[in-house]
Amino acid sequence: MAPSQLFTISLFLLIIPFAFAQTPTTIGFTYNTSPSTSEYVARFVESANISAVRLLDANPDVIRSFSSTNVSLLVTIPNSMVPEIGANRSNAVAWIYQNVVPYYPRARISAISVGNNFETFSDIHLLLPAIKNIHNSLHEIGIQNISVSTTFYFYTMITDISPSCARLRSPADYLVITPVLQFLEQTKSSLFIDMYPYDAWRLNPEIPIEFALFQNLTWELSGFPYSNLFDMMVDAVHSAMAASGHQSIPIIVTGTGWPSSGYTQEVKATQSFAEKYVTGFWVNASAL
Ligand SMILES: *[C@@H]1O[C@H](CO)[C@@H](O)[C@H](O)[C@H]1NC(C)=O
Ligand SMILES: *[C@@H]1O[C@H](CO)[C@@H](O)[C@H](O)[C@H]1NC(C)=O
Ligand SMILES: *[C@@H]1O[C@H](CO)[C@@H](O)[C@H](O)[C@H]1NC(C)=O
Ligand SMILES: *[C@@H]1O[C@H](CO)[C@@H](O)[C@H](O)[C@H]1NC(C)=O
Ligand SMILES: *[C@@H]1O[C@H](CO)[C@@H](O)[C@H](O)[C@H]1NC(C)=O
Ligand SMILES: *[C@@H]1O[C@H](CO)[C@@H](O)[C@H](O)[C@H]1NC(C)=O
Repeated sequence: MAPSQLFTISLFLLIIPFAFAQTPTTIGFTYNTSPSTSEYVARFVESANISAVRLLDANPDVIRSFSSTNVSLLVTIPNSMVPEIGANRSNAVAWIYQNVVPYYPRARISAISVGNNFETFSDIHLLLPAIKNIHNSLHEIGIQNISVSTTFYFYTMITDISPSCARLRSPADYLVITPVLQFLEQTKSSLFIDMYPYDAWRLNPEIPIEFALFQNLTWELSGFPYSNLFDMMVDAVHSAMAASGHQSIPIIVTGTGWPSSGYTQEVKATQSFAEKYVTGFWVNASAL
């Protein structure tokens, strides 16, 4: 299966913490759900030996399609539902009864992301209550092995791509991110982060495109050379987490990729650059 065939599907990579380094890295795919194709997609994913899929929402029909497979699912609660789930625990319970209970444990739902890049919304104060309401309600129902977290976007969370300078962003740091990280630590859950080297490359003109596209170019920003931009950004996340005392939280890169069809002002957002990125990422991540 050539990775380039999976174009509309962005990659997601499970980075296993160092303590579990003997566990192989899992590469999964993000599925922008559509109930009309989900039976087909579920069969395809299983036959291609893809072990993990991230759903960008929680559609009961789609989850049901995966219940005859052994594919591990990361389900997302859409941003629009986060405020109501954070404001009222019964909405969390209702969501679980609609989306999880009918399919559990036949569908291997292993994680729930409460919102996606929700830190940019004005109801941000309801994010942590929503995460807690889902987590606590699952436990009350007796479901202990679904980890509950949220998905951040690299640039709203981390200040810099250089691992030696990277920190958590302030004031989002102490208002939003730190309390969420404390909860992830208490519940032994992972941090989910979407990371697009394309954005970093656009923001930092000094980055060689070859470095961003896994083309065997070693480059350094501040003293320590890296073989590609993705690895540098992952280390930036690790070092920002360590600088704030949260180094024990496992990091899962839930989204990466390269835009294949940009607006006219977006340079190098073409199919051929996207293909280079996906291929390079695939080769490198499979080798981990
Ligand atoms: C999937 O894994 C099975 C068992 O290891 C193997 O026989 C099969 O060829 C694999 N399929 C693909 C598409 O890699
Ligand atoms: C299902 O996947 C899990 C984790 O990847 C694995 O440990 C287990 O053996 C698989 N079960 C079957 C029936 O393939
Ligand atoms: C939460 O929702 C339930 C069910 O809709 C409702 O009965 C209850 O009054 C709500 N609680 C609050 C504090 O709004
Ligand atoms: C969670 O636990 C249930 C019941 O023990 C089990 O059937 C299911 O496979 C587990 N799910 C995952 C994702 O490990
Ligand atoms: C990078 O180098 C490796 C090992 O020499 C080679 O297998 C691979 O094809 C090269 N990749 C690119 C994109 O040139
Ligand atoms: C892929 O990753 C390995 C290990 O991190 C590294 O040695 C290699 O240079 C990387 N290749 C490319 C093309 O980035």
